Amino acid sequence: MANATRCLIAGNWKMNGTLQESLDFVDDLGANPAPEHVEVALMPPFTLLHPLAFPFSEKDVRLGAQSMYCEVSGAFTGSISPLMLRDAGCHYVILGHSERRDIQHESNALIRKKLGMAWEHGLEPILCIGEHLEERESGKTNEVLKEQLSVLEGVEAGVPLTVAYEPVWAIGTGKTASPEQVKETHAFVHEELSRLGHDCRVLYGGSVNPGNAAELLACDGVEGALVGGASLKADSFMELIEAAAKLA
Ligand code: 13P
Repeated sequence: MANATRCLIAGNWKMNGTLQESLDFVDDLGANPAPEHVEVALMPPFTLLHPLAFPFSEKDVRLGAQSMYCEVSGAFTGSISPLMLRDAGCHYVILGHSERRDIQHESNALIRKKLGMAWEHGLEPILCIGEHLEERESGKTNEVLKEQLSVLEGVEAGVPLTVAYEPVWAIGTGKTASPEQVKETHAFVHEELSRLGHDCRVLYGGSVNPGNAAELLACDGVEGALVGGASLKADSFMELIEAAAKLA
């Protein structure tokens, strides 16, 4: 791992999980799922934030949301505000996930606004960036990542921030970036962040599972993982935490 920052294993449940399933998950996590050198966080759907806040805090698991709107309150049907997320006990909010960029057409301008609102309301954003397959194949990866990271231009140094590099072609596909691609891309992301004045943790995401976690987490410049599918079951999620603990 690139620096002394505590490694973060974060689970993004996406649009999965009923109340009963989530309570069973909490039971299956055991008493102390978060070892000393690993930070553990989960991002369930909005409906589960309140019911999970207390059980998660008892187990030292940080709560996060998968998205939010860039206003505090008002006539924004179907949206959720940073204030509501804080009220529900969230520490993190994922912003700029490729599923939001691609399906909901979220732009960098909107993501920039949301970042500002997250900081204003005491949330730590996990800013997701990543290229599509055709962009990687045409040699445009760094250009795409640079553009996505430009939302941090002019943002004061030291704000709470985590970045997650998630190549879109590796999300939910069972394909992962090779260790070489991960090292090379994370080096670029760290370099670009430092040019922008930010020295923050960078996670890798995209088909991370118990079989590949140790190799991916051991790559230079990787300080944790943002995990979809393998975070839905407590046993596979705990295997990822164990893989991180071994490297800490
Ligand atoms: P998978 O781990 O299911 O590929 O999802 C990754 C992801 O999008 C996490 O935000």
